[in-house]
This record gives sequence, structure tokens and C-alpha cells, in this order.
Amino acid sequence: MSEATQATTERTVTLEIDGQEVRAEEGETILDAARRAGIDVPSLCEFENLPNVGACRMCLVEIDGDRLETACTTPVEDGMEVAVDTEQLWDHRRTILELMFSEENHYCMYCEMEGNCELQDLFLEAGLDSVRFPLEYEDHDPDTSHEYITLDYDRCINCGRCIRVCDEIVGNQTLNFGNRGRDTTIVADTDVPLGESSCVSCGACVQTCPTGSLYSNLSAYHGRDSDCEVVESVCNECSIGCDLEVYRTDRGLVKIDGTTDGPDGGQLCEKGRFERLERDDRPVVGTATIRREGELETVPIDEAIEHVADLLDDAQSVTAAASNRLPTETLDAFADAMDDVNADLEIDGADRAGLESAVREELAVHDEENLVADSVACIEDADGLVVYDTTIVETHPVAASYVRRAVKEGADLLTVDPFEDQFERFSSDSLTMGSSLFKVSEIAAEAVNDEEREAPIASAAEKAVDFLGEGNGVVVIGPEVDNQDTLVNAYGLAAVTDSQVVGLNEAANQALPDADRVDEVGEVAYLFASDDRTDDLDRMVGIARRADTVIVQAARESALTKLADVVLPALDWAEREGTFVDADGRERGITRVLEPRAPIESDREPIERILEVIA
Ligand code: SF4
Ligand code: SF4
Ligand code: SF4
Ligand code: FES
Repeated sequence: MSEATQATTERTVTLEIDGQEVRAEEGETILDAARRAGIDVPSLCEFENLPNVGACRMCLVEIDGDRLETACTTPVEDGMEVAVDTEQLWDHRRTILELMFSEENHYCMYCEMEGNCELQDLFLEAGLDSVRFPLEYEDHDPDTSHEYITLDYDRCINCGRCIRVCDEIVGNQTLNFGNRGRDTTIVADTDVPLGESSCVSCGACVQTCPTGSLYSNLSAYHGRDSDCEVVESVCNECSIGCDLEVYRTDRGLVKIDGTTDGPDGGQLCEKGRFERLERDDRPVVGTATIRREGELETVPIDEAIEHVADLLDDAQSVTAAASNRLPTETLDAFADAMDDVNADLEIDGADRAGLESAVREELAVHDEENLVADSVACIEDADGLVVYDTTIVETHPVAASYVRRAVKEGADLLTVDPFEDQFERFSSDSLTMGSSLFKVSEIAAEAVNDEEREAPIASAAEKAVDFLGEGNGVVVIGPEVDNQDTLVNAYGLAAVTDSQVVGLNEAANQALPDADRVDEVGEVAYLFASDDRTDDLDRMVGIARRADTVIVQAARESALTKLADVVLPALDWAEREGTFVDADGRERGITRVLEPRAPIESDREPIERILEVIA
């Protein structure tokens, strides 16, 4: 930034708001300046991290005694005199509010957002208890096609916050306004039901909606915000580690929001916001059990621990596997215990992490360690992107939103995926190849090294080099990339184009102990499934089927516990605490949200007691 530009951005102006002297940065809006000075300005369509559009006119202010402007779109000026809290302005706001109430269905007592609603709050703040205009809303059926979200058209005030968050923050561009005038309504894609649209179920629109128009089916009528205690924690469903605000009452969990002051604008994904809230109907493993005469029989936990210690101590060979979503302290304790009984340990994602760290070590030898990006968020600033494996849309959805946002800002995107391109709407070019992934970067590397460019160059390879070479290039490697050649070539592509690499593996917790894929299954298998569900359990079920004796530590009954000879209790995600390391290498704190239902304080308690018995 030039000195002149810097001087401009740092210039401050002085204005008066409701008689109070306020200093503000030139270019800042009146709304922001007022809020920073602690002056309340009513608003509805404005929302943190979104561009302001001046749609609702709630923030009308009077400037220099003669003109009305919306504070959210009007920049401050030196010497300006602004009035916010005058009777005339409140008259304007009351009229707008009355029109909003008469045009749609705002019978608050029947609304799921009653008591949580910004529109209702403003109605009361304006001193209204009825409307002068005839009620004119047309009854529309709500869109209930989405698994997690209901769209109630009759409570929509057309503020556009949902549209802007879906576009600007999530980068998905699913929502828009449809129709005109009084018939204006929210539509998904080409006016298809939300559940059949391009929606990625992140729920950002639900968090942003100021009324009861968009709400979560899982949270509706579970409790108002004011009835809840809010616990701040971190999502460790994947290695992005989004900040969470978990709302709970004495009856349990109510909702999960993202923190709007976080770096990604309060984003979460389907897994972090909704799946974690979904009722887990599987019975809780509340006690220890041992299989006797074919049936799992409840036993005191001490008896089960002694039995497990004997099984492990006597075994010729032990195979162990653990969920990659466990806190570092628990994974370490489990790895130590399994090391003591010479077990082969498998943790999903650890094999890829091991391969990648070997590649990085090799790069360091060649002074190329700077290739590794400091933060996943660097994707947002990319001018050119190559994404190997587009399943990151499902495995690391917030990282996928960074990709979409970068494209929206003009970045070129080349995707390389052996199957379906999940960024199809956004990529400039995609290779859904029959050829191997690494071939592209191999050819790219050759192309760059061949100064004359005489060698035949695959056009996609040429494109990859061009995209990444124009300014800030980022190569993203998704979790399905599991062979060394592809990794080496992806890093090679970054090296020849002076780009950064973001590696995203399957493990949620990146503080992984030494572990690898287990091919030969031992006599005894200790499978620490925690609260993993369905697909995540598949590998462990496969191991259990090949072992003679199976020990399972799990929070819930499942196909895996059915195969077990001994079952020990574990904690659900909300009951855990500890730390976890995210994809940026930062240690994050996991806070307990609910008290454990199982008779253990932590997941590592049974493991430590087993070790004591063996010792
Ligand atoms: S859930 Fe997310 S992707 Fe779907 S419409 Fe809302 S903001 Fe857009
Ligand atoms: S659905 Fe909610 S956020 Fe979207 S325009 Fe309507 S009121 Fe605003
Ligand atoms: S992107 Fe990852 S960390 Fe963020 S909410 Fe989704 S699963 Fe959780
Ligand atoms: S908040 Fe300014 S016009 Fe809506």
C-alpha cells in the first residue's frame, strides 16, 4: 500500500450523533460509527460481515436537519450532524414496521422465533402493540422440503440477509429474490424446493434470518436464546475446527451457531450445525458388558477393566483402532497403552498424514518448506487454485466455501478428481479423469522445465501452470489423495509455480500418534469407536470381523458393539473435553457442554485403569 493510500484510510473525521461527539474513520458508515460509540441505531437488513444494501429503512437518520438517509449505507463526513432518536424518525419507523406486520403473517405467539425475533423486538421498542393497516398477507405453504431447514414465506420481510450470506460468506449462491413487488419472495436456484436445490445445508441463512422465516427443524420450539446457556467450544468433526456457540438448557442441546466474529464469518457446515444436534437414537453404552454364552451381560466396570487387561496381556497379537475425532489427551493415552501391549494401531487419516509429513520433510531438505500454507484461510486470497479431490465439499465444507469465495473474487479454479467434480458450478476447468491424478502435475512440471516448450503439453496441465502462476497460487489436496506419487506431484506443481499447499486429510484431530493402515488383524482387537456413526465405523467393523476377540469402547450401541466380546463406555461429543490440533496446526480447546451419562469422567479413564492393571 502506498503511503498516500495509507494516509487516506487512516484519516479520521469528527461528527455529532444525537448530540454526542463521535470520531470515525473516513469511509466508515454512520451505523458503524454510532455503534462503536455505543449509540443504538435500529436496523433489520444489516448484519455483521455482510455488505449493506439499505433495504429495510429501519436505520433512517436525519442528517444536518434536512435530509433522511439510511445509516447503514451512508458514509460519515467531517462536521456532519446526525439525529437517530427523534420522534419524527420513530414515526417513519413505526409506519414501516406496521406495513411489514400487515403484509405478512406475524402472529408472534404462533411463531417459533417468538422471543428471539429482531422484528418483534423492534416492534416493541417502537412502542407498537397493534397495526393501523388491514392485514393483507396471503397464506403460502411453507417450504418443508429440506431435511433441516423450514422456509416460511409468510414471515419473510425481504431483508435479503439470507441471500447475501449464502452468496458472500458461503459462496454458494443458492438463494435469490423471485417475482416482483408485493409478490417478491425468496427462491432457491431456479425456484425449486430448497431440499432439491444446490443448498449445501450449512445453515448460515438460518443463523442470519432476523425473523421466523428460516428456522432449523432441529431447534424449533426447543427454547428461546434467553432460556439457554451458551457454551463456546470448537467443532472437531473435521480439521477446520470452526468456533461453536452451543445453546443448551437443562433439557439438553437447543442449537449450534457459528461465531460471527470468527475469521470465516460465523460459518459452520451441515456436520457442525445440524448433524451434531440430530438425536442419536442408538442406545447409550451406560455400563460395561462382557459376552457370556452369546449375550452381552452387564458387569461392574472394574470387572470389565480387569478382563480387558487380561485379554490384552495374554494376546499373541493385538490390533487397535481409534476414532480420529478424539481429543489429543485421549489419543495419546490410547496410543501409549496400545504400545505397551505391542499393538498395531490404525487411525483413519494417519497414513495420509504420515505420507505428507515425509514429503514435507523431503521438501525441507531442498529448502522448499515454505510451500506449506500457514492457514487454510489462505485459499480465500488465491488468484489461482488447483484442487486435487473435490470431496472436500463434504469432508471439509468450510474450506470448500473458501474455494467458492475465491472464485467469486475472480480466482481461476482447476479441479482434479477421479470421480465427480463437486465444484462443477465454480470451476473454470475440471479433470474428471480416467488418467491418474498425478499425471497432470507431472506434465506441468515438465512443461515448466522445458523452456522452449517444445514438448507436447496437455492443455489442462498448461492451464494448471497458468492459473497458479498468475499471482497467488494455492494447491489444495483433499483427503482421498492417498498415494505418495500424487502427493509428490501436487507439491511439485506448487514448487514450480511458487504456490502454497493446503493439505486436508481425513483425520479431524491432527495431533495423531504413530499409526498406519492395519492389513493383518491380530488375535485381539481393541476398537475405540467413541461416538462415531455408520460410515466411520466401517473399517472397525471390518477389523472386528477378522479378530478372535473384540474389545469395543463406544458411547453408543452399533453394528460394532454387536460384534464385541467386551464393551466399555465412552463419551458423546458434547460430553468430552480436552484439546485438539486443527489443520493450521493450532491447539484448540474442546469444552464440555453436557455432563457425561456413562459412569466415567473421561474417555481415557478406562484406558489408564487397564494400564494400571497390566503394570
Ligand atoms: S443452508 Fe447454506 S447453502 Fe443452503 S441456502 Fe442456506 S446459506 Fe445457502
Ligand atoms: S428469509 Fe429471513 S433473512 Fe431471508 S429475506 Fe426473509 S426475513 Fe430476510
Ligand atoms: S467445516 Fe469442519 S470444523 Fe467446521 S463445522 Fe464443518 S465439520 Fe465442523
Ligand atoms: S439496516 Fe439500514 S436499511 Fe436496513
